[in-house]
Amino acid sequence: MSREDLRALPQVQQPSYPDAAALDRVVDALEKRPPLVFAGECDDLREQLAEVAAGRAFLLQGGDCAETFDALSADNIKRKLMVQLSMSVVMTYAAQVPVVKVGRIAGQYAKPRSKDLETREGVTLPSYRGDAVNGFDFTPEARTHDPERLMRVYDASSATLNLVRAFTKGGLADLRAVHLWNAEFVRDSRVESEYEQLADEIERALAFMVACGVRDHTLSTVDFYASHEALLLEYERALTRIDSRTQQPYDVSGHFLWIGERTRQLDGAHVELLRRVRNPLGVKLGPTTTPEQAVALADALDPDHEPGRITFITRMGARRIRDVLPGLIEGVEASGRQVAWVCDPMHGNTFETANGFKTRSFADVADEVHGFFDVHERLGTWPGGLHVELTGDDVTECVGGAYSLTEDDLAARYETACDPRLNRNQSLELAFTVAQRLRALRSTRHNPVQEFAIKEF
Ligand code: PEP
Ligand code: CO
Repeated sequence: MSREDLRALPQVQQPSYPDAAALDRVVDALEKRPPLVFAGECDDLREQLAEVAAGRAFLLQGGDCAETFDALSADNIKRKLMVQLSMSVVMTYAAQVPVVKVGRIAGQYAKPRSKDLETREGVTLPSYRGDAVNGFDFTPEARTHDPERLMRVYDASSATLNLVRAFTKGGLADLRAVHLWNAEFVRDSRVESEYEQLADEIERALAFMVACGVRDHTLSTVDFYASHEALLLEYERALTRIDSRTQQPYDVSGHFLWIGERTRQLDGAHVELLRRVRNPLGVKLGPTTTPEQAVALADALDPDHEPGRITFITRMGARRIRDVLPGLIEGVEASGRQVAWVCDPMHGNTFETANGFKTRSFADVADEVHGFFDVHERLGTWPGGLHVELTGDDVTECVGGAYSLTEDDLAARYETACDPRLNRNQSLELAFTVAQRLRALRSTRHNPVQEFAIKEF
């Protein structure tokens, strides 16, 4: 799609740059940059997501609500990776299904906002829209929308991906090091000791496999994919490339891109732009989504019913999920589609505390996850995955969980630039909750491999 064609479409949640020529210069530069991810990797992920949709794998998608330029460091990336590897090992071991690992990472720098403006003590300025658009500080300079920031997004994403690739292919993710992923963290909670116990078991199982002669790179490397909300149309379009193998367009800013709850208008620019790229796509669905809207979105984005193309990420809120999700699933199933259903238990459960912090309660988050599993269990459909905002740091942003954080604790380490994230302990606790539900499911579902073996016999 050309720059002009994109600009002619109805757009929401976009920056308003004071200098149009400056934007064009940045777009020119971005169009020349090398891809951040490769088309073949996007295809691999799409195939793995097809397994999720078919009920043979589980997706773990996690990371910051908003990445920031200041937080870009090796330690930060490493801790985020380690918490997600720990979570996925908990889920894989318990449920015995492959876990597809996707970070909200290397591109998650732009945020949709419910209000364009923010007022503090009588001063009104544009809202913070993520480091991709403007600065967090409450000053007129910081809050001005600046297209040069898109170049910094590209550079920060490139540095992040470089390290992610090194860590996941270069030994850090070696399954035989499960204990090490935990070593940097305080081990004094119930969740930590549960994790240590599981790591012992895994270590024994692996030693057994190695003794049996299994020497395989699957023990020492993992596939970890990058994803972000494809919010900024100019950036995403400028990073679209024609793949030399297939002659098809891919958005090479990330492997997996999703359209947010606020930008998924059927006739809007986001749907129109992403419809044309071959990456696997997510769409966030909030509690007011109708089954007809979900089907229409799938029809627009995936007219060929391609396996793994569409992931619906539902974010209903703990109080709504059991009422709203069944109708959506039934409507989509009735249209003959097989999509991946993923639960985002964060965005429907945000509230503000009396002392002014935007937070979420771990109990609500866990309850929405339970609701998600309850609904799928009742309908006989596959709960395909979890989409969470988390960090490897011991922040205090969500209340409850293993350390029973209270509203008064939030001030201690409230560091998010946007929504509150689960800290490492809360993340692991949620992984154990999911693992327990997956294990229960496994014992009740028929095993397709077994069935095949019996038929063959
Ligand atoms: C997000 O994922 O950070 C987000 C803004 O989500 P949603 O589109 O579901 O509100
Ligand atoms: Co968020």
